[in-house]
Amino acid sequence: MGLTSNEENPTPIVRLNKVVPFTHTKVYAKLEWYNPFGAVKDRVAYNMIRDAEEKNLLSRGQKLVEPTSGNTGMGLAMVSNQRGYALTTPLSRMIPLEKRTMLRFFGSTVLELDDNLCPAPGAPEGAIAKARELAATPTYHMLDQYKNLANPEAHYRTTGPEIWRQTQGEITHFVAGLGTCGTITGTGRYLKEQNPGVKVLGVHPVEGHDIPGVRSIKQLEQTALFKPEEYDGLVAVDNQEAFDLCLRLNREESIIAGPSSAMALAGAFKLIPDEPGLIVVVIFPDNAFKYCSSIVRHIPQLALVPEKSQKERSLETMVSNVLKTPGLHLDADEAIELHENHEAAFVDVRDFATYRREHIPDAISAPLDEINDYAPLLPEDKKTPIVCVCNRGVMSLTGVLHLKSMGYENVKSLDGGMIDWRRRGLPVESD
Ligand SMILES: Cc1ncc(COP(=O)(O)O)c(C=O)c1O
Repeated sequence: MGLTSNEENPTPIVRLNKVVPFTHTKVYAKLEWYNPFGAVKDRVAYNMIRDAEEKNLLSRGQKLVEPTSGNTGMGLAMVSNQRGYALTTPLSRMIPLEKRTMLRFFGSTVLELDDNLCPAPGAPEGAIAKARELAATPTYHMLDQYKNLANPEAHYRTTGPEIWRQTQGEITHFVAGLGTCGTITGTGRYLKEQNPGVKVLGVHPVEGHDIPGVRSIKQLEQTALFKPEEYDGLVAVDNQEAFDLCLRLNREESIIAGPSSAMALAGAFKLIPDEPGLIVVVIFPDNAFKYCSSIVRHIPQLALVPEKSQKERSLETMVSNVLKTPGLHLDADEAIELHENHEAAFVDVRDFATYRREHIPDAISAPLDEINDYAPLLPEDKKTPIVCVCNRGVMSLTGVLHLKSMGYENVKSLDGGMIDWRRRGLPVESD
């Protein structure tokens, strides 16, 4: 990585076609996962360490500490490996497992804390507080990406010039998602210096979001590099908009964009008009691979159904075979006769709250999940005929098997359950 913009080998920009709602405006994505350690933050990691060394802020043997949502940490871990520093990264357990594991793999000491994804100011505990506590001792130096001017400077030196060259100075709109705000502030400053007419637009997630790497307006109070007065517009994007567009980018554009890339693009679509001559560059900070756990939360149809074990399958077969045994079922007409003549005990296996609302008079409550604990309330004589009851006559079949396994010899399930019983106008009571 060079000290100034990488003329030979910039991260690529690609034109988006299929998901773009415009006829005239041209939209390009700058694919930051082509940086050497996988994300936009490599630029910042390198520049902060270079800057600290140049200013003699790092003494020999000193350790680095940085509260990081992952990508800065990964860049710092790799630059530290190359320069001979030890790195400690306090971070929230909410950060995707993939990132926490990779940080350890790269050699960082990861301190996992019960913290929000991106803590709001005033949060007493958490990654930032822990890093500050360590940095107060002489052993550690904290680069502090939230304040360090070498963060936006990384983008002023590299991202900005790359985009200016790649668009041959024709860019009209620059769009970035807001995390530390290093990207938007540094790149925006460079581009506006080349052409004050370039519009610099920031995209942030809504409060309570679930998009790793970026911050809501409240969370942005934590970063000194958030300079809204330097931007031409700000817009909010919610989880659904971001994850929906993320799916489309992957499936329709074949671009492996992650959630924060899609969020930035969704914001661009909201803010930018469709006009001839407009050339938009949107920063795509990272690809999708580290964000499986967030993606699955928002696109639940992707979740894998866990395979059943051999033991579970054989138990299921056994239960279904036993349930085919004749004589386990009783219809409401037969049951009401037993009830009126007090010839059977009725055992209701639904949960207690449901039982209390409405049940067959004198039925004994024995919720299926806790049926063994209710044994003392069941008839002492194991020969007593029992009618097992639930809502529809499905759970009660499992109840029959439980009661049989407890030694009851004459147990049947009420077909159609309470629903059929009620429909026939048969007696019910509540507690
Ligand atoms: C995945 C991802 N998206 C977006 C950003 C935002 O970039 P910046 O911190 O420069 O505002 C980051 C940085 O934390 C990130 O990791």
